[in-house]
Amino acid sequence: MKQVKIAPSILSADFSKMGEEVESLKANGADIVHCDVMDGVFVNNITFGIKMVEDLRKRTDLPLDCHLMIVHPEKYVERFAKAGADIITVHYEACQDNLKEVLELIQSTGVKCGAVINPDTPVEKIADVIPLCDMVLLMSVFPGFGGQKFIPEVMDKIRQVRAIVDSLDKEIDVEIDGGVTADNVAEIKAAGANVIVAGSAVFKAADRRAMIESLKA
Ligand code: DX5
Ligand code: ZN
Repeated sequence: MKQVKIAPSILSADFSKMGEEVESLKANGADIVHCDVMDGVFVNNITFGIKMVEDLRKRTDLPLDCHLMIVHPEKYVERFAKAGADIITVHYEACQDNLKEVLELIQSTGVKCGAVINPDTPVEKIADVIPLCDMVLLMSVFPGFGGQKFIPEVMDKIRQVRAIVDSLDKEIDVEIDGGVTADNVAEIKAAGANVIVAGSAVFKAADRRAMIESLKA
């Protein structure tokens, strides 16, 4: 089993001091910074965009994992890449039949790419593009807000994606996003996820270091 990486979602950080929040993630043992970009159209919430990624790039050397919950992601991927994203993930639900082209566009910018599916989208919808991906992101809540409950039916999809990824001759990460806690993380990892997003669990913890350690252990 690959080393598990913890990717705290800055959706749950204090936006008025984002630079310090991201520095605290590095100081407390996080591996990746998960950046939830929301446009108020694809999801019912608005967060931040390219300028945030550009400014955070100057504050951290942790990989910036940009999860685009926006319509027409193809219009913005080049600017997110230029801003300093290390990986850009795009939703099947936003790209539909163009998913392959959008993933190739991300790759052409020199940045890693990933496909994301919502809890009610079957793995089959992205099966043909998984070999192109550096990461597959499975949503375990409906996107839009932090602090929701993990949807247990997604556990089977983790196993399905893990089986596909292991059958391929390529390093592809399996990332899970939504409702991860210290109580369910062991089962999630056993199912085959190796990149764990955690927003409220990390940012609301009294001791962020202890929480990141327990998610990783
Ligand atoms: C939801 C976001 C998640 C969210 C996770 O739309 O994609 O990254 O911040 O937050 P928690 O860990 O609190 O469920
Ligand atoms: Zn996310």
